[in-house]
Amino acid sequence: MNIYDTYFCNVIRWIFSLMIVAPAFALSQPAGDELLGTGSYDDFEKPKVCGSCHTDFYMQWQQAMMSQAYTHAWDEIEYFKLAVPHAEKDEKVAGVKAGCNGCHTPLAFIAGDIPPPKPSANSRANEGVSCDVCHTITGFKGEEPFNFNFTIKPGTVKLGNRDDAESSYHETKQSDFTMSPDMCGTCHNEKSPYGVWVKSTQREWKAGPYSKEGVRCQDCHMPKAETKSAILSKPRKDAAQHLFHGAHSPSKLRGAVELRMHPDRREVEPGEPVVITVQAFNHKAGHKIPSGSAEERQLWLTVIAYDASGKAYHLAVDKKNFPGEEYTISSNVLAYQDIGEIMDLPDFKGLPRDALQYEGDRVFRLPYFDPKGRMTIAQWNTASLGTDYRIGPRETKIETYTWNVPEEIPEGKIKVVAEIYYRRLVKSVGDFLGVPAKEMEPVLVNRTETWFDIVD
Ligand code: HEC
Ligand code: HEC
Ligand code: HEC
Ligand code: HEC
Ligand code: HEC
Repeated sequence: MNIYDTYFCNVIRWIFSLMIVAPAFALSQPAGDELLGTGSYDDFEKPKVCGSCHTDFYMQWQQAMMSQAYTHAWDEIEYFKLAVPHAEKDEKVAGVKAGCNGCHTPLAFIAGDIPPPKPSANSRANEGVSCDVCHTITGFKGEEPFNFNFTIKPGTVKLGNRDDAESSYHETKQSDFTMSPDMCGTCHNEKSPYGVWVKSTQREWKAGPYSKEGVRCQDCHMPKAETKSAILSKPRKDAAQHLFHGAHSPSKLRGAVELRMHPDRREVEPGEPVVITVQAFNHKAGHKIPSGSAEERQLWLTVIAYDASGKAYHLAVDKKNFPGEEYTISSNVLAYQDIGEIMDLPDFKGLPRDALQYEGDRVFRLPYFDPKGRMTIAQWNTASLGTDYRIGPRETKIETYTWNVPEEIPEGKIKVVAEIYYRRLVKSVGDFLGVPAKEMEPVLVNRTETWFDIVD
């Protein structure tokens, strides 16, 4: 055997070992369900420690939903009153007892602390989506990001967006993954145990116009501004802010949908019909509105006409007759019957489906159905979806309102007002489960007016 044989043998062996070892190494890194119980709370640093230098970002994060992902009231109620008992009695959804925590309190999930202590115990589970979670996520495993399939490597290296950041406390490393919407997608896309996409924010973004233009989640939810990111660092012109404002921030919601409205005629006789057209344009969100937890969010359009004497007439939306449209027109038929089964309430008949002020309003939504085909608020108990009638990024939905003006209406100006509202949680469900009223407060997203005259 000559020297080249050995050399080539070694090279081939080396290439082979890379081919085998490199993917094996990547495969050996746990992600998603495999992360359960693979580490401990102590592998991660407390947000307070990061906050001792990154004071501004710490204050911002404390106000953001990220820090409350485990502690805030509606999360606690849904997890402990519905998800845990359901997981304990229904084999099909058993995995969610641990799984909810993979996104809401990754430390508890990785520590295998299931169910985590209640928020009142003040344990480290309360840290929610902490600094050290996002800044040590290295990538994701699988075809696309969803169901916390991130790989994570807690330790001294903090991954960020710069290659010139220097800290005496920790190492820093620029990471394309930290800067990419795929990172957000590991928690903002979710598949139910029935294999249904019950959260698709990153997928909606990817299919829409903003991904093509390179506008990331970070650009809208972590806008850049001149600040010092740490007390002893130099100010940066473009430091990524950490408020993660979303549906919990009225200032983010306001104006997210633009409204315009016009009648088909300016002069109408009593007893005649008039058609009012409303356009609803999603010009601010990089995904559909509502996005994320669409099972419980409501976006609805109310149109009211006022006659010259000030009398109000609520106008019902014209039907378009598409399949499943009945779920997009507000109604108080009973729904959410699975709550009774989950909570062992044999006499439970369901709750009013929309619980809005008016029936007949257009609701922009995606209905979720349980295995028995009834509408559900439990995304983990979702076996199928209805027609998606949310407003896509830069999409305009057009609604018409045909109003047969009453014979006895006084002459003069008719003012028509259209308002679009957002509510995070269906009020009947929140009231029934004891969720604090502020979670169900409607937010006025936009308002517009038009007019026509009643003439004889
Ligand atoms: C002793 C002070 C100190 C502490 C404690 C500290 N940092 Fe830093 N960190 C800095 C400084 C200084 C920089 C550099 C900032 C710059 O250059 O703009 C920095 C930069 C960073 C960056 C940016 C890295 C990049 O490449 O873009 C990240 C991310 C980061 N820190 C995360 C953390 C996290 C997470 C914690 C808590 C586990 C933490 N830091 C604790 C001082 C600190
Ligand atoms: C939900 C994930 C997430 C959480 C939680 C989070 N960060 Fe970040 N952070 C990011 C992302 C993403 C970037 C990069 C933004 C970009 O690419 O525009 C970033 C950037 C940074 C930077 C560099 C900013 C700059 O532009 O120079 C620092 C420093 C930092 N984070 C510290 C922290 C600290 C401290 C906390 C906790 C108080 C924290 N982060 C919590 C995702 C997160
Ligand atoms: C480890 C999981 C995880 C990662 C990674 C993550 N998020 Fe989140 N995020 C959550 C959870 C859980 C909530 C919901 C908190 C709650 O309301 O209980 C949330 C809430 C939010 C909200 C607030 C929505 C509202 O209704 O107010 C925004 C905005 C957001 N995330 C954006 C991002 C962006 C942008 C990224 C990527 C830079 C990201 N998230 C990465 C888990 C994550
Ligand atoms: C062009 C700006 C823009 C981009 C890009 C964008 N968002 Fe948003 N996002 C918004 C606006 C505006 C809202 C408020 C309206 C709403 O609730 O849908 C919002 C709301 C949200 C909400 C709350 C949704 C709800 O209705 O409960 C979450 C969660 C969120 N964004 C996460 C993300 C993630 C993750 C990405 C990237 C995959 C992303 N956003 C990309 C502008 C943006
Ligand atoms: C794949 C990650 C993921 C999993 C798994 C997950 N969630 Fe979430 N959850 C999120 C994100 C992200 C949001 C915020 C979405 C938005 O703002 O629209 C959220 C929102 C919520 C909200 C609404 C919070 C609010 O303030 O309105 C509740 C309640 C909730 N989740 C409970 C649960 C329960 C219970 C489970 C388990 C059955 C669970 N989640 C599983 C990521 C996840």
